[in-house]
Amino acid sequence: MELELWEKAHAEAFLNIKESLPKVRGMFVAYNSNIDAIKHITEGDIAKLIKLVDLNEIQQKVASYPREIQTPVDFLARLIIAMRDGKAAEVPTYTSDIHEWLMDNLVFDKARMGGQAGIISNHLVHLGIRKVITYVPWLSSEQAEYFSKSKNLVHPVIKDDVLLLKHPTEAYNPKFKPRVNWIIEFSKGMKVKYGCEQFEVPRDNRLIISSRPPWIRIDMPRKLYDQLPKLQEDVDGAILAGYQMIRENYEDGTTYHEYIGRAVNVIERLKEGNSDIRIHVEFTSISNKVIRKAILKDIVCRHVHSLGLDTVEVANALNVIGFEELAYSVIDKDEKAIVALYEGAVRLLHELKLERVHVHSLGFYICVISKDHPLGLEGHKKALLFASTLAATQASLGDIHSIDDVAKGLEVPVSRKGYEELEILGKYLVRRDICSMEEFEDGCISTPTHDVVIIPTKIVDDPVATVGIGDAISAGAFVAMLAEMK
Ligand code: AMP
Ligand code: GLC
Repeated sequence: MELELWEKAHAEAFLNIKESLPKVRGMFVAYNSNIDAIKHITEGDIAKLIKLVDLNEIQQKVASYPREIQTPVDFLARLIIAMRDGKAAEVPTYTSDIHEWLMDNLVFDKARMGGQAGIISNHLVHLGIRKVITYVPWLSSEQAEYFSKSKNLVHPVIKDDVLLLKHPTEAYNPKFKPRVNWIIEFSKGMKVKYGCEQFEVPRDNRLIISSRPPWIRIDMPRKLYDQLPKLQEDVDGAILAGYQMIRENYEDGTTYHEYIGRAVNVIERLKEGNSDIRIHVEFTSISNKVIRKAILKDIVCRHVHSLGLDTVEVANALNVIGFEELAYSVIDKDEKAIVALYEGAVRLLHELKLERVHVHSLGFYICVISKDHPLGLEGHKKALLFASTLAATQASLGDIHSIDDVAKGLEVPVSRKGYEELEILGKYLVRRDICSMEEFEDGCISTPTHDVVIIPTKIVDDPVATVGIGDAISAGAFVAMLAEMK
């Protein structure tokens, strides 16, 4: 399909999904929301920060790759790595020291809703979804203010053993403190120099310093858990995220096994009495490999229907479930990386017994679907096209306040680079007799073991920010799919 036909397909899918979205009764969304302190860093800021610490130490840390941020040197090393590779990264910190150092040395530009579940809840409500039931285990009064003011956005509260649904600003626990993450956004073309090393940033992206205070738990009070099945009357799907916050060991002697078990129970509870509910997990970068593997093998596998992730996350996931070589090929600079990405998504679908794996990359999406999925491929394709327009809107405006804002994304052109990159995958699939060139160009492919939808997507040249775009894509495609299933 020529590029202009893909533009047309985007416009039609937007109108179609806009009409079908009101059919979705509602969505349950948990767990992670926080406040994002966003800073667009400049070359001058970097030079200033580097001067504050020992250059040799930075060089050593760049080589040793810290997986946790304890000191300003750890922070600068991970920032340099992220900028050098143009890759998104999220690194945990367990004390408030780095937050204070950043407050003293690098003031943030703006604070906004952060955390996958928080961002997704607001998006869904702004798209007009009738009921969004959001659940944050550490909902503080400050955090509550970052939720959309809509009455369609509610948080469960148990009062005198009765389940109530209230706006987050009426549901917070005054004892909780806010959780603030730092988002350091950097732009393509920036020049970074430290010692005799020098490079140019290849891609707009960001480093996230994720604050993990000891009181953070991926959990739910027993009474709420008991009443979860009641929520299904109002929801067609659930989007779950934030499992990366689970720790291997806790001070009270509990381990991750306990929290993984509870997370699975919540999913099972949501499914009780509503066999049609669809559960989507939004993956992310998870440094700890034990936790990453447990999330995939014990929570996602067999319990969840749909998984959303970016290319680096596909490699990270493959790496812990026994496909190391394929994982390396996914992040290789080689042009065959796109073939490995497709093969990797297929492995994830089968190994994790999923119904749907949606991979988003800069310029295209690949969605691998099980043969028994009730929705036809055209429906899945429309859902992805809608998500592409949503992402373009988010990248252009920084935020989406209503479904009509999304029309703005339609003005953004479909990426020629993404379109051309897909040709490599197309040739591979045709050579392997997996599909014909016509099928590939149409974007809908049916194979004996799985189906696939592949689309080129819209890319904004100069995005307002990159944080949260992946969440908009995954949530947008998932809710649009639910709408199409109605
Ligand atoms: P994540 O890394 O999960 O936040 O997802 C980032 C995704 O956002 C990428 O995979 C792209 O699909 C999308 N994206 C990033 N930058 C842009 C942009 N400038 N315009 C449109 N989409 C973008
Ligand atoms: C992660 C981060 C959060 C950010 C979000 C964007 O959840 O912890 O700070 O807002 O990703 O996707």
